[in-house]
Amino acid sequence: MFSTGSKLVAALARGMATSARGKERKVAVLGAAGGIGQPLSLLMKMNPAVSQLSLYDVANVKGVAADISHVNTKAVTAGYEGPDALADALKGCDLVIIPAGVPRKPGMTRDDLFKASRAINAGIVKGLVEACGKYCPGAILNIISNPVNSTVPIAAETLKKLGVYDARKVLGVTTLDVVRAKTFYADKLGVDVASVDIPVVGGHAGITILPLFSQATPGHSLKAEDINALTKRTQDGGTEVVLAKAGKGSATLSMAYAAALFADACLRGLNGQVATECAYVESSVEPDVPFFASRVKLSTEGVETIHPVGSLSKYEKDGLDALKPELIASIEKGVQFVQSA
Ligand code: NAI
Repeated sequence: MFSTGSKLVAALARGMATSARGKERKVAVLGAAGGIGQPLSLLMKMNPAVSQLSLYDVANVKGVAADISHVNTKAVTAGYEGPDALADALKGCDLVIIPAGVPRKPGMTRDDLFKASRAINAGIVKGLVEACGKYCPGAILNIISNPVNSTVPIAAETLKKLGVYDARKVLGVTTLDVVRAKTFYADKLGVDVASVDIPVVGGHAGITILPLFSQATPGHSLKAEDINALTKRTQDGGTEVVLAKAGKGSATLSMAYAAALFADACLRGLNGQVATECAYVESSVEPDVPFFASRVKLSTEGVETIHPVGSLSKYEKDGLDALKPELIASIEKGVQFVQSA
């Protein structure tokens, strides 16, 4: 089901020449000069479904855009710097990817980004989504900026205030959790990672990240302690990178790869092809949890179907019960942030 990785990688390996696919699609990356933004912008330039690529940032984006624009693929690439350029960056966009904001430092949780940096990411996402609501109200939004558990509700509330909210089009990017679960599981089993499929549900922070190894393909007969270790490593994957980078940010390269896979799935959906990925969206899959990550089918209008979590092991049921209070609190915090503004 999650075959996008191997397809995109194969296409990237071929150089992606100029093979037009589907309609002309304009994509913007907001925060394009950052650690995630730069490699993500390059990967989007290599996606044959993209015909126009807007690279926006508050600083240092002109050079990034000039550099990437020389890659001989079809996406016409332009850099837009500073708030005055944002409208032009966004007009006509089909898909807007938002990795703008500050990353974690060692010892910080994703939620600390809300507190310690005076809600800086919350404010950045709110401002950028407001501009999306004004200048490209029909676009699909891929929210990467953390804490995703709160920034997606912030995006939804912001668009509601503008009267242009469409729940099918606001998606929190949790693909890196799936990418990590697949990598760690394949490594443990000693199987080809391309054959591995694992849904990851819940949210995108600590225990709210719940990989469902009981539903993994290929199946396994791993011991409970192995499943516990794989689950914890998936949940702490981001922290593993934050610690290894020792103050120089969080995951950027693997995140750019994951975001490019997810954006590609959104574009395939827009172009009428079948695409199913896990994503954090407004959802009624779990009662009392208004935003939840699960498998979603993507189509021409964004999210077409939200799949239920399916049958769970006892370990996963306990994990689901445990994550709900934290996830609900993060959602409420995001909603409050916009409503009290
Ligand atoms: P970074 O600091 O390297 O880059 C952020 C970029 O955003 C900078 O170029 C900065 O100039 C730009 N920026 C700041 N305010 C802006 C605004 N108002 N408009 C446009 N651009 C603005 O950070 P990095 O490592 O690229 O991370 C970005 C975000 O992604 C962080 O919030 C991080 O926590 C999050 N993240 C999310 C993951 C996920 O799985 N969803 C995984 C890893 C990081």
